Amino acid sequence: MTLDLFASPRDTACHDSPHIDELGPGAFVLRGFAQSQLTVLQSNIDAVVAQAPWRHWLTPGGKRMSVAMTNCGDVGWISDRQGYRYGTHDPLTAQPWPSMPDAFATLARHAAETAGYRDFAPDACLINRYTLDARLTLHQDRDERELGAPIVSVSLGLPAIFLWGGLQRSDRTRRVRLAPGDVVVWGGPSRLVYHGIASVEGSFDAQAVRYNLTLRKAQ
Ligand code: SIN
Ligand code: FE2
Repeated sequence: MTLDLFASPRDTACHDSPHIDELGPGAFVLRGFAQSQLTVLQSNIDAVVAQAPWRHWLTPGGKRMSVAMTNCGDVGWISDRQGYRYGTHDPLTAQPWPSMPDAFATLARHAAETAGYRDFAPDACLINRYTLDARLTLHQDRDERELGAPIVSVSLGLPAIFLWGGLQRSDRTRRVRLAPGDVVVWGGPSRLVYHGIASVEGSFDAQAVRYNLTLRKAQ
């Protein structure tokens, strides 16, 4: 992947993106990119969850993660005392993960293209559910075999504060507010940047939650 691919992400826009924020080389927030598809995405999430229910993975150290997760696609992201990895089957149901809805794959391909990454073909989608007390500590997405492909991350539901750091865990982080419909794409020189979720915005008396789809080429 060469830098000129990132020269002008706006030129390849195939959705009407009102605004693009650059987080770093090869990393962009496409504001409102998924806005018109939120209802379809939500019903696809509900269908995946009917087959592969929400669960709180344990970290390899044995801590229960505060974010509830599930997956769809050829492989799904798993964490337990054996470590982080991708697997073809849901350990909870012993069934293959539900297949990737077309709406997810198409949105991800268009978002990646808008950010300068052509022909993104995700084979895994991690689905996260955040209640108000959930956090995702700084981490790199590095369990994928295919680090040449970008990550595409779609926000739904409550807004959140996304942390965007650097290639070292100790690097300074920037706080980026993500609203429903925002899509973050990172790859190339930013593919292994540390990131996380500091907090979710909302009031404790409301039932609402935040969802995030993270689409990857894992294999
Ligand atoms: C992730 O890093 O896996 C998810 C980020 C997010 O929820 O926005
Ligand atoms: Fe991540």
